Amino acid sequence: MKVVYPGSFDPLTNGHLDIIRRAARSFDHVFVVVFDNAAKNALFSVEERVAMINESVGDVSNVTVDSSSGLLVNYAKKCGAGGIVKGLRAVSDFDYEFKMALMNKKLVPEIETVFMMTSLKYLYLSSSLVKEVASYGGCIRDLVPPAVEARLFDKLKKKPQGDI
Ligand code: PNS
Repeated sequence: MKVVYPGSFDPLTNGHLDIIRRAARSFDHVFVVVFDNAAKNALFSVEERVAMINESVGDVSNVTVDSSSGLLVNYAKKCGAGGIVKGLRAVSDFDYEFKMALMNKKLVPEIETVFMMTSLKYLYLSSSLVKEVASYGGCIRDLVPPAVEARLFDKLKKKPQGDI
């Protein structure tokens, strides 16, 4: 089955990357799709986010990185995907994800949302926390792929201050 893994990815974290790699082992093809959510006031442009993901998953042959601004289910139908992959961290993710899964199911009943549990080490990792740490010059080395680390400090006009 082909699946779509959608998100804001502003920016991609190692938690996202872990889900992409695991999904690529479980499914025939994974479309990682950057959605532009105007309400979220993103730090990186969609093009920058797509480029960082491409650099980070270039070694995985059954992953395609793309962007969209429409309905997720329309994208999934267009590319022939039968599933939507979502990562779940703490219980706090569940309410939001459950609502979206049910709405997507209402829109296109034949597309299944599949939840993958986060790996323990990424339980509390989020793009917003990474941006906050980086904005103070804190170390984000184990939290984001190398393609993201330098770009994030550049974007924030910050220099990393050592290993903390
Ligand atoms: O990383 P995020 O911000 O939690 O991802 C949210 C995303 C992109 C998955 C969600 O906003 C989405 O699906 N957007 C596409 C528009 C859409 O289909 N909206 C209806 C969802 S029920």
